[in-house]
Order: sequence, then structure tokens, then C-alpha cells
Amino acid sequence: MNKDVVILTGAGQIGMAIARRVGFGKKIVVGDKSMKNAEAVAKIMNDAGFDAVPIEMDLSSRESILNLIGEAQKYGEISMLINAAGVSPSQAPIEAILKVDLYGTAVLLEEVGKVIKEGGVGVTISSQSGWRMPALTAEQDELLATTPADELLQLEMLQPKNIKDTLHAYQMAKRCNEKRVMAESVKWGERGARLNDIAPGIIVTPLAIDEFNGPRGDFYKNMFAKCPAGRPGTADEVANVAELLMGPAGAFITGSTILIDGGATASYFYGPLKPEK
Ligand SMILES: NC(=O)c1ccc[n+]([C@@H]2O[C@H](COP(=O)([O-])OP(=O)(O)OC[C@H]3O[C@@H](n4cnc5c(N)ncnc54)[C@H](O)[C@@H]3O)[C@@H](O)[C@H]2O)c1
Repeated sequence: MNKDVVILTGAGQIGMAIARRVGFGKKIVVGDKSMKNAEAVAKIMNDAGFDAVPIEMDLSSRESILNLIGEAQKYGEISMLINAAGVSPSQAPIEAILKVDLYGTAVLLEEVGKVIKEGGVGVTISSQSGWRMPALTAEQDELLATTPADELLQLEMLQPKNIKDTLHAYQMAKRCNEKRVMAESVKWGERGARLNDIAPGIIVTPLAIDEFNGPRGDFYKNMFAKCPAGRPGTADEVANVAELLMGPAGAFITGSTILIDGGATASYFYGPLKPEK
């Protein structure tokens, strides 16, 4: 019997938390570059009554994304996309961050947008990090939103001489995610589907723990100590937002980015996290 299919890319804590909220009764295809991670998440979910199947995939490759979509369609129509795959500034070099987080996300949103079921919904995960970078020009924003995905990495603003470090690459990638979601949501809308983005602050996951132990560890610990919430968040709190965005209560929300960061961005601009001049 065919079921509605959920594509989950990124078998991490955030992706799994969201899939557990919205995926019951559907086939959940769990794609990750690490088959070990995909299998581990599929097992936890299957042991809890979900119907999940792991598959190896690489977000930075269009071929791999198309293969994932093809495999998913064997189970039925794709009604949901949860993209929570990514690499952080301490995990990868500039080129890999741009290829996975920026280019790969753009391709995934485009390709799933071509096949998403009428009434379907998608959510992708950007980051509060993109909100701290100074505003780009209107022209740069439009280029990030609408440049054909295969030409994105050739944009002048993304050339190595214009990217300071891995954090800057990550911020550009996450800013691009927000812009792509706006542009793609128009196309998804033509199919009666919605697409949104969540920009989390520090959420305790293996990726964040790598950051706490990485070169910017003190920066991150200071950030959650001095944000209004005074703590990092949890993947389940991100899933609360995803449940709203992906469910009937979110029917009027599309092309949107929701920031969930315990107030860290607010404090960065107007509070104790404001950088000293
Ligand atoms: N944890 C945080 O504090 C935080 C904050 C803001 C944004 N985010 C974003 O949330 C998303 C999920 O992160 P998480 O914290 O759940 O991390 P996580 O480390 O728990 O999961 C990320 C998963 O992505 C997979 N992955 C990495 N590269 C891939 C590729 N090329 N193809 C397919 N899969 C790949 C990893 O193997 C891993 O299983 C990421 O996009 C991250 O940038 C996380």
C-alpha cells in the first residue's frame, strides 16, 4: 500500500525531532551522508512505532538528491520535506560549507519542489548566524534567491577572496537558504504546497557540541549565557516551530523564516551580546 512519504535529510537531532512530530503514519525516508547516522535514527524511530528507512545521500550532489527522491517515490507521493542536513563552521572548510549548506540546500528545495504533492509542506533549517551578518545589498539578496542553483557557487560574492573564514561561509549559506525559501515558495505555491525555514540559535546537538569544543567554544558559551533565555535550546523546541509551520495551523505561512534563538539575535543588536566597536 502506498503511503505519503516524508523525506528527511540530515539524521541529526533537529531532523529527528521534527520527523517525530509530523511523520507518524507516513513513510519516512531518512537520508544522510553518514549511513551510520541514518540507520541509527531510522532504528530509534522504528523502535518507537514510526515507519522509517535509511538511505545514504550527499546533499552536495544533485545526482544523489535525485536518487534520494527516486527512492522515496517508490513508497508513494512525497508530501513532506524536512531538510536538517548541514555542516557547521567548525566541522568543515569553506568550500564544503558552501557546497553542502548553500548549493545542496538550493538544489534540494528546487528538486523536491518539482514533485511535492498538492498540499505538501517543507521546512529547511538555516541559522541565527545568518541574522548577524550585516545586510547584503538588494541586488546580492536577489542573486542568492534566484541564480540558477548550478551557477550559485560562481557568484562573485562567494569567491574565496570574498569569504573571510568558515563562519562567514556558514552565514552566507544560511542567508542564502532564507532567500531561496522565499523564491522557491512561490513555485511550491503553484503546486498548492508550502515551504518555510527555521533559523535556530544554539541547540544542543552533536553539531553544537562540536562548536562548544571548537575554536569558537567560548564565543558560543558566552552567547547562550547572555541571551534573554540564558541557555541553549533543544531540538524539541525547534520541532514545536516546525509542527506549527507544517501543520494546518500554519496554512497561511509560506516563504517565511522563523527565528528561534532564545533572544540571542536581539541581544546581539540591542543587549549585552552587542559586539564592542
Ligand atoms: N545545533 C545548532 O546549534 C544549530 C544552530 C543553528 C542551525 N543549525 C542547523 O541545523 C541543521 C541540523 O543540525 P544539527 O544540529 O541537528 O546537527 P547534527 O550534527 O545532529 O546533524 C546534521 C546531520 O547532517 C549530516 N550531513 C552533513 N553533511 C551532509 C551531506 N553532505 N549530505 C547529507 N547529510 C549530511 C550529518 O552526517 C549529520 O547526521 C544544520 O543545517 C545546522 O546548520 C544547528
